[in-house]
Amino acid sequence: METIHKDVARIMLTSEEIDVRVREIAKQLDKLYEGRTPVVICILKGSVVFFSDLIRNMETPLTIDFMAVSSYGSGTKSTGELTIKKDLATDIQGRDVLIVEDIIDSGNTLYNLKKLLNARLPSSVNIVTLLDKPERREVPMEPDYTCFVIEDEFVVGYGLDYAEQYRNLPYVGVLKRSVYEN
Ligand code: IMP
Ligand code: MG
Repeated sequence: METIHKDVARIMLTSEEIDVRVREIAKQLDKLYEGRTPVVICILKGSVVFFSDLIRNMETPLTIDFMAVSSYGSGTKSTGELTIKKDLATDIQGRDVLIVEDIIDSGNTLYNLKKLLNARLPSSVNIVTLLDKPERREVPMEPDYTCFVIEDEFVVGYGLDYAEQYRNLPYVGVLKRSVYEN
């Protein structure tokens, strides 16, 4: 049993459940990249916990890099704007790219990011996400690998934040409405 934070209404995914699923996905990725050396990209900051667990469970040789982006379009409005706050240090031309994301919501961030990275002529781009909220999609964006499909609830922990808090919780939990409705 994990101790629950006072701002969390319920634990959606325990650290054990996450661990089992991350290992499964890592094995599938090892198979996909057999004989190749992908560059695995952590999308900061939300993916950092998932990313570090995922790569430690992968056996295929790989390199890592980091990118920070922000997608404009709030609430119900979606725009095509994507701002790079921190770019890759790696030249991805001719490389196999694996994008590691924490959660896909509207899909705008990854839709735009994939377009941007494809313009740099990698030999492949795949997306792995910890969480997917397909109900919320505004643009066509299907991840290649998904650990968990979840309902439309605002979740925190295991890297995911609300106002930069809660990233260090070891589980994924549903944030109490009272926290963000005040
Ligand atoms: P998208 O462009 O709407 O797909 O945005 C995805 C981004 O929104 C994620 O990388 C998260 O930073 C944030 N996000 C969406 N849903 C949640 C959630 O339930 N908890 C925490 N962050 C979320
Ligand atoms: Mg975030």
